[in-house]
Amino acid sequence: MSYRKKILVTGGAGFIGSHVIRLFVNKYPDYQIVNLDLLTYAGNLANLTDVENMPNYSFVKMDIVDAEAITELFQKEQFTDVIHLAAESHVDRSITNPTEFVMTNVIGTVNLLNAAKFIWKDNMEAHRFYHVSTDEVYGSLGETGMFTETTAYDPHSPYSASKASSDHFVRAYHDTFGLQTVISNCSNNYGSFQFPEKLLPLFINNIKTNKPLPVYGKGENIRDWLWVEDHARAIDVIFHKAETGTTYNIGGHNEWTNIDLIKLLCKVMDKKLSRAEGESEKLISYVKDRAGHDLRYAIDSTKLQKDLGWTPSLQFEEGIKKTVDWYLENAEWLDNITSGDYQKYYEEQYSKR
Ligand code: NAD
Ligand code: TYD
Repeated sequence: MSYRKKILVTGGAGFIGSHVIRLFVNKYPDYQIVNLDLLTYAGNLANLTDVENMPNYSFVKMDIVDAEAITELFQKEQFTDVIHLAAESHVDRSITNPTEFVMTNVIGTVNLLNAAKFIWKDNMEAHRFYHVSTDEVYGSLGETGMFTETTAYDPHSPYSASKASSDHFVRAYHDTFGLQTVISNCSNNYGSFQFPEKLLPLFINNIKTNKPLPVYGKGENIRDWLWVEDHARAIDVIFHKAETGTTYNIGGHNEWTNIDLIKLLCKVMDKKLSRAEGESEKLISYVKDRAGHDLRYAIDSTKLQKDLGWTPSLQFEEGIKKTVDWYLENAEWLDNITSGDYQKYYEEQYSKR
């Protein structure tokens, strides 16, 4: 079969990437989808067992930091487009090891930009480079206001600084070399297949196993939560419809203080685990705050809704219940991930707090 597009998706074995791969492989049988992933601690091919045998899907294990390998791959495969999600993505790890974030998020992105620029140089207009970024590049809000696409960048963590840098490189390659780029900046995602170092899967697992729930500071920080499948749908719409050189913010207009979110989660878990009401909340334990902890994120996604007609599909309370169900029903997935190295990570992150 000859395919209409051959899209390289980087980071497809991670949380959001696996949802993007699933959506594209199923929705576009006439696209060939190549998943490139290094399979770091966060990458897991078990996230993709339902699509691994589809004829329009294939996997390449590769490090985006390896410029030579990336260039060779682009020359050999002649991708028509790139959707770039591969990244080091956890703020707490970026505080422990900032350099790794510079390598993957900045150098890795520049390697992909160089390879794309090189193979597409004779016909730039026919190809798209889509860079997936985060709202964290905009910094922290006070009690009011929202991030729009024109909010000045003001990153505070090594993670957000590295993502901001990669966004600047993507724009520079558009402005300087005519690469046909698009960027989206999304709020916090939740849903199935998220590695349990991030708030929701971590706390679901801790409640399930009766471990303390380490709430940073007073739990007053605010995040804007979006169901991961709605993010994947937004990426689909932006990839196909956005004008070149543009940026879109993606968010659910769904702000929660951490502590309110955790209390809601505890209530849902009490019901699902048939525990007495209030049982799981007893596990809440306030610990030392994260260094440089951003107070509030809130995304204004009006541009995406108005220009491209995207809207979030799921109410948060329903989404939380669905998410909890998924982690409880997929105990084996969770158990595999939380054995071995995970224990060491957990010990290092939380024993000193
Ligand atoms: P994740 O950590 O779950 O997945 C990242 C994937 O990238 C993993 O599969 C990992 O193996 C792969 N990877 C890491 N280093 C690599 C390298 N050097 N070469 C090749 N592959 C490598 O992350 P996620 O939460 O799915 O985030 C995906 C993207 O979306 C990231 O760019 C992140 O900045 C962005 N984002 C995430 C969120 C969120 O809430 N999780 C919100 C907005 C934007
Ligand atoms: P996280 O899932 O790490 O996402 P991000 O830092 O990218 O927003 O954290 C979400 C919020 O939850 C953030 O304000 C930090 C807080 N948090 C805790 O209170 N305890 C924890 O153990 C973790 C991982 C996060």
